[in-house]
Amino acid sequence: MQEQQSTRRRTAFVTGASQGIGAATALALARDGFDVAVASTRPAKLAGVVAQLAAAGARAVTVALDVCSQSGIEQAMAEVTGAFGHLDVLVNNSGVTLRQAAVDVTPAEWDTVMRTNLTGTFFVTQQMGRHLIASGRPGCIISIASTHGVVGIAGRSTYGISKAAIIQMTRMLAIEWAQHGIRVNAIAPGTVETPSRAGPLADPGYREMMLNRVPLHRFGTAEEVAAAACYLASPQAAYITGHTLLLDGGLTAH
Ligand SMILES: NC(=O)c1ccc[n+]([C@@H]2O[C@H](COP(=O)([O-])OP(=O)(O)OC[C@H]3O[C@@H](n4cnc5c(N)ncnc54)[C@H](OP(=O)(O)O)[C@@H]3O)[C@@H](O)[C@H]2O)c1
Repeated sequence: MQEQQSTRRRTAFVTGASQGIGAATALALARDGFDVAVASTRPAKLAGVVAQLAAAGARAVTVALDVCSQSGIEQAMAEVTGAFGHLDVLVNNSGVTLRQAAVDVTPAEWDTVMRTNLTGTFFVTQQMGRHLIASGRPGCIISIASTHGVVGIAGRSTYGISKAAIIQMTRMLAIEWAQHGIRVNAIAPGTVETPSRAGPLADPGYREMMLNRVPLHRFGTAEEVAAAACYLASPQAAYITGHTLLLDGGLTAH
């Protein structure tokens, strides 16, 4: 099964697309010629992204999605595939972060992170796998992991464990679904200056500590992560599957 260019516009679904990396990825895909479905737990927050997608010439579809709800996942995927007819690319971007010493993590905090980052990502991916296998067409799944899933750092154990699991999910599903022409990859960014990171990075001590871990001595941008996602979604990456692309300014090269 080969990924081919056809006259039909390619379609993508980006979860957690109201801001940050998700919004940048949706826009970059639109500029690459995709029609894009964007999801948020608060769809009203998608208005700005939708306007940018339309300005880029893409058809935009918005859906409400809380990845902690199985019925919500199934409904959102049905809405997206119903609107587009077929979905080529899924970008699992939704996620929550947690900075908490391991000795202080509560079961509720653990559950929130795992249900959102791991369980939610798995079951959205499962829906996409079912859709692609049923359609008999190739497709591409990209999950946003993190360098915290690759190397250790104090105070991020719960989050890092959830992202490490996404990296292993990527390998497992790449093997299981290769026979269907489905490529499964991940991107592991280091620190990216998005709105959700503005609070912690406003602390000069924390900012300096994080910056000093990065050989290129700067943080990444949402647009750089988006460009990597576009590459992995493109025919140029047709031989890449099961891979996690480290996008970290050299952080994990130490
Ligand atoms: N920024 C970084 O330094 C960095 C580094 C490595 C990896 N990452 C990962 O990259 C992704 C995006 O990060 P970001 O910095 O752009 O963060 P962000 O602004 O917090 O975006 C995360 C998105 O996840 C969505 N989300 C949260 N809980 C959800 C739920 N239960 N169901 C559905 N969606 C949910 C949010 O959507 P709504 O609030 O609109 O519902 C939000 O748009 C995350 O997976 C993050 O872990 C970020």
